Amino acid sequence: MKIREIPFLALGGVIAQDDIDATNKVISAAAKGGNFFPMPEENDFQNAFAGHEGAENAIAVNSCGTALDCCMMALEIKEGDEVITTPLTFVCSAGTAIGQGAKVVFADIDETTMNLNPVKVREKITNWTKAIIAVHFTGLACNIDGFDKIAAETGIPVIYDAAHAVGTKYQGSPIGGRGKATCYSFQSNKNMTCLGEGGAVTTNDPEFGEKVRQLKTFGYVYGGPSLRVASIGFNYRMTKPQYAVGLTQLAKIDAIIKVRQQRMVQLNNLLADVSEVILPAGHGPGHGSHLYVLRLNTDKVAFTTEEFRKRLLEKYKVGTAKHYPPVWSWEAFADLGYNGEGCPLAAKACAQVISMPIFPGTREEDVEYIAWAVKETLADLKRG
Ligand SMILES: Cc1ncc(COP(=O)(O)O)c(C=O)c1O
Repeated sequence: MKIREIPFLALGGVIAQDDIDATNKVISAAAKGGNFFPMPEENDFQNAFAGHEGAENAIAVNSCGTALDCCMMALEIKEGDEVITTPLTFVCSAGTAIGQGAKVVFADIDETTMNLNPVKVREKITNWTKAIIAVHFTGLACNIDGFDKIAAETGIPVIYDAAHAVGTKYQGSPIGGRGKATCYSFQSNKNMTCLGEGGAVTTNDPEFGEKVRQLKTFGYVYGGPSLRVASIGFNYRMTKPQYAVGLTQLAKIDAIIKVRQQRMVQLNNLLADVSEVILPAGHGPGHGSHLYVLRLNTDKVAFTTEEFRKRLLEKYKVGTAKHYPPVWSWEAFADLGYNGEGCPLAAKACAQVISMPIFPGTREEDVEYIAWAVKETLADLKRG
């Protein structure tokens, strides 16, 4: 095949004229009236998002990191508490608990799905465990029934990090109403974006939702005869143009995810007979299809993922990424004494993962090229 350039991040196809029109409308109105408040778009977006994710309540905030922080604060996580999570995630799924003074306890993953394994979580529960944060990694739903059982038996609340998982389904149903709460990201390279940043907490627990709502806006309680400040809160709101774009994004999110799904299934099919790689599980309907994370079968090859990624980029111009190094390996976490004890499957997976460049704008012929380049790179490296 003729060499072509496939960068890892190519986000075309997410922002379009409808989003530009929605932004312009809000900005033009503000130019005439000089104000970005009130913002009816906020409630409209929250209602639409809750509906899309199958939840009774959605509280939009300015990032998924903020959404997780709000959940930790609403659960009153503090020094002396333990929060169990996966080491195969973005730093903030763990950092949010440390931010409240708690200790993070890493539990191992399921080898096939790469999601946090409820069986391994049970082994790490102590009298100090106050929450579990499970991540729907790449957009593939966790074993929610397994976590429900733990919550029912122990009373420990489960917060889902769904930064990768707008549109993900579990056993055919949306995930937003499961557990204590679910936290989403609308950051620039996620399935949908609110002009670069944004997030939401969904929950079916109205009291918990109200706590998050208060944390998001200075502790305000609206709706009574006069405004009350019922708790210490912050300002974690998005802006009016962001809510407006959230609505246009939501109107087309299912179509965007469908294209991602098709391309990821296509790549799985094209690589099905390649024994040097482990294909990602669960792609197809119900997968949020945020990331396509291939694993190099390091038991079968004599080179590393770094060597593979370097050759793929330098010779075939295909960019990749790594989702993720284990959280414990980042300097700030290592300095606090975190390590991979008890998580051998996560340690192995983190040494094998390679994220392939698939986005809504990726064409079928690009996927064919990526599959060809992967096979050629493996053959090159095997020849030495
Ligand atoms: C698993 C996971 N959780 C949380 C976040 C944080 O999201 P945000 O950038 O919206 O704060 C990310 C961001 O990439 C993520 O991948």
